[in-house]
Amino acid sequence: MADATDTTESPRITVIGTGYLGATHAVCMAALGFEVLGVDVDPDKIKRLNSGEVPFFEPGLPEMLAKALESGRLRFTESFAEAGAFGDVHFVCVGTPQQDGSHAADLRYVYDAFGELAGHLRRRTLVVGKSTVPAGTADRLTALVQRLAPAGKDVEVAWNPEFLREGFAIDDTMNPDRLVFGVASAWARQRLMAAFAPVILQGTPVVVTDLTTAELVKVAANAFLATKISYINAMAEVCEATGADVRDLAESLAYDARIGGRFLKPGLGFGGGCLPKDIRAFTHWAEERGVGQAVAFLREVDEINQRRRARTVDLVVELSHGDLAGKRIAAFGAAFKPNSDDIRDAPALDVAGMLHDRGAHVCVFDPAALDNARRVHPELSYGESALDAARGADVVVLLTEWAEFREIDPDAMGAVVGHRRIVDGRHALDAQRWRGAGWEYRALGRPDVTKKPR
Ligand code: UDX
Repeated sequence: MADATDTTESPRITVIGTGYLGATHAVCMAALGFEVLGVDVDPDKIKRLNSGEVPFFEPGLPEMLAKALESGRLRFTESFAEAGAFGDVHFVCVGTPQQDGSHAADLRYVYDAFGELAGHLRRRTLVVGKSTVPAGTADRLTALVQRLAPAGKDVEVAWNPEFLREGFAIDDTMNPDRLVFGVASAWARQRLMAAFAPVILQGTPVVVTDLTTAELVKVAANAFLATKISYINAMAEVCEATGADVRDLAESLAYDARIGGRFLKPGLGFGGGCLPKDIRAFTHWAEERGVGQAVAFLREVDEINQRRRARTVDLVVELSHGDLAGKRIAAFGAAFKPNSDDIRDAPALDVAGMLHDRGAHVCVFDPAALDNARRVHPELSYGESALDAARGADVVVLLTEWAEFREIDPDAMGAVVGHRRIVDGRHALDAQRWRGAGWEYRALGRPDVTKKPR
């Protein structure tokens, strides 16, 4: 554990890349009292952020952005020259999406950001990577920035992986479970201690390590979380084959403190901009380095996750008496999880698309992600509310567990649908209550009570 009193004077901070991660980091650093400059190559994003608008859905962030702008400690720019002149510690928070046609991570934005910034670094500075990258990237970036920067070897690279979850981004940034500092020198460590002094002083554990380990921590954490979800979903498959109930099984496992209940929720599985692409990039990277066997299980983790989507479609088909052609399906949810408008690799939209491809007429409703969904899936229909989407439906399928879907009254919805049939893809509803209101209720990994016991 590092020493929290080991801080130098407050560094001026830049945050390069103002997506979910960067915008949240910039706003939170300003809230913690630092002078912060946010940088992005997208002029529209900069304009919106400078006028107090958060370009994505994140509860609480718009209010915090307004306060930070008002304090005068935060502003946004497109200029890397300005960033280079301003910052003592630069955080790079750009995306590392999956490459087209490959499982590898696309590192072009990371190299662009480090390269562009380096040309403007004229004094001793620390450039801190936060993006999720394959281990070994930080060493290559060190060589790149030291070659391009006028300050040469006075510029150092550090790695500080970020574990924030969408929907809880502020809390995860202000009160993280831990801080991980991958550094190559005592000076870099001190700079990071100073940049996180307010968070460290509240007792957050700090792990100081080398660059490669810090890079690996992030993918190892996401791979573990994905594995835990797929483990319980594999048990759901076993339950489906035996008539057992995965919900009771998961609850029983969760009481074992060694296992714990978090990320053990069975259902439609994981999606989003991180877990799926991170496990694929990790596998690809490990295979390239001859340690593919060590993480080969991650392929199965991915496949179990994909099979949940297909199984959800099967349940809808079963409730539709074997044929989807011309059936009206109401799909509740588009975002990859509740409290987000993010539809990257969203299981919900994948299922909606598969139902459409099988000939169903699919009407989607989501409280936050409709605009994003419409852009990517113009072939689907969209409702104005859950009840609107459910009008005349042969089957309703719940795909993202938004609180407002949990609160739906089965009788009120029963009055608008064509048939009272529901697939609960997220174990979000009270099965007894829905069955009591005359609904045929099916859920992944739970017995079909209409079938006779074997
Ligand atoms: C994840 C990591 O949690 C975070 O630490 C990292 O920084 C980024 O990736 P995020 O993508 O925001 O965060 O989503 P998360 O809350 O982890 O959920 C991921 C997916 O798993 C969602 O689709 C969610 O529905 C699913 N999930 C989660 C389950 O299916 N079951 C669970 O028990 C938990």
